[in-house]
Amino acid sequence: MFVYYALAVIISLLIYYFLLKNDHSSKEPPGPKPWPIIGNLLDLAKASDNMTLSMGILAEKYGEIYSLKIGSKRTVILTSKEAMQTIFTNEATFARDFSGMFADRSFNKNLGIAFSEGEVWEKLRPWAFKTLKEYGFGKSSDMEHFIQVSSQRLFASIDAIIGIDKKSCDLDVELLFNNPILSIMWQMVVGRISPNDEPHLKLIGEKGYAFIRASIFGTGIVNAFPFLRFVFPKALGYDVQMDFFKTCNAIALKLFQEMEQKSKKSHITPTNLLEAFVLNCGTDPKIFNSENFQLTFQDLLLASTDTTNSFMEIVTLYLAAYPDVQEKIYQEILTVAENGEELSFADRKKMPYIQAFFLETHRKGRVLQNMVPRRALSDLAYKDYIIKKDTIIMADTRLYYESEENWTDPDAFRPERFLNEDGQIVNAGSIISFSFGKRNCPGELYANIVSFLLTTSLLQRYKLSVPKGQEIPRLDLKPGLTLKPYPFQAAFTKR
Ligand code: HEM
Repeated sequence: MFVYYALAVIISLLIYYFLLKNDHSSKEPPGPKPWPIIGNLLDLAKASDNMTLSMGILAEKYGEIYSLKIGSKRTVILTSKEAMQTIFTNEATFARDFSGMFADRSFNKNLGIAFSEGEVWEKLRPWAFKTLKEYGFGKSSDMEHFIQVSSQRLFASIDAIIGIDKKSCDLDVELLFNNPILSIMWQMVVGRISPNDEPHLKLIGEKGYAFIRASIFGTGIVNAFPFLRFVFPKALGYDVQMDFFKTCNAIALKLFQEMEQKSKKSHITPTNLLEAFVLNCGTDPKIFNSENFQLTFQDLLLASTDTTNSFMEIVTLYLAAYPDVQEKIYQEILTVAENGEELSFADRKKMPYIQAFFLETHRKGRVLQNMVPRRALSDLAYKDYIIKKDTIIMADTRLYYESEENWTDPDAFRPERFLNEDGQIVNAGSIISFSFGKRNCPGELYANIVSFLLTTSLLQRYKLSVPKGQEIPRLDLKPGLTLKPYPFQAAFTKR
């Protein structure tokens, strides 16, 4: 009997697939015909067994904007700069794919910065970044101090591994920068790292490590079929991911409640985001409440740490793999700090080569190759096409960054492409890694300050190279929540 039922279901699905018209209406962007239930997952899998290539390969067939069904989710993929810039600056796309794990982590409510929309997003995002700026974010002196505290801790741990008798050690670079970067954002939000904070930071670091290592394949499956997270929570990495979110939420709630108690007992003049948030609760409780603090805390820590850590891993990879590039950067550092003086972010203006190096690193090492998906709040038009309300909109920057038309020799790692004959920076606007419009990345300046100061202080202290006897590490990138190098070692030799 079961066999008959199964056959009937299969035959109905085949009839649906072959006889019914293509699911895309004529005005929607073209794309491969979706199967019932699984949509175009097979097309993606068939395009390449490397997840970072699949969407670009389909774009070569269907064009700069095309449609896919990811499971049952109607999705549009953008691959040209023009399409991304036009569509992502349209306010009809100022929402996210709020489902599955992303809804669960915020109690199924519209909270925080990165996945909220409407009034919450419109008020909280500008408030959070204005407040961070007021208390040091982007202001060289304060933030530089936080970065120095964190990088000194990192260098002390590397020196301890090298030991007093040796000059050099080989280190695994995977997640090397994660804890220092996490602790910089912690200081930005909480204003300090006290001995009581250390266990919290350690816990977030450990759970974050597990989160990042959880299967990206599982995350993709949960995104396509959100109900599966309840059926196979362990196998799909959902348990590990929720554990990280719950840990962050619990720590944020504790910080919030302690500050609430403190503010009731004595008058506080705010000096950090946590204090300012708690003091605002009386004025606009719809926005300023403990749940919104938890999600804001989580968004700031997660959005800044994994991205900037992956970027720094890629920076280290390129410095070790291209010694001549490293030497040019080091010589440039010597021109502004001959005797190893501490650099400030303002010094970058005198250092075009390192700026060009970071631009080229963004081009070749596409940390967020697919950006962060948006969702259409209403129907919107692009050229001859309509993107329908509730469509998920994803970008894939690989084809743009690898196009011969745009870059002439895209395969080469060549910072000089961003320098003119006078050695001045050109074409910085062609780097689109922080996206476009009002919903772009608000952390671009922060990421630039951290990577500049970490890289220069690292190179002032150590020469990086491929460890003796090892091959040059592979230079392609490993898929994950962010793209990063495949695990590799670098030799750190004291200067
Ligand atoms: C190499 C480093 C980074 C890259 C490449 C990057 C890139 C991006 C991209 C592409 C988006 C999606 C924007 C969009 O939808 O148009 C985004 C969102 C976001 N980023 Fe970054 N980011 C980086 C570092 C940071 C840092 C350091 C912070 C924190 C200070 C941060 C905070 C955020 C937040 C809060 C959002 C969500 C914005 C919103 O939904 O309104 N990012 N980032």
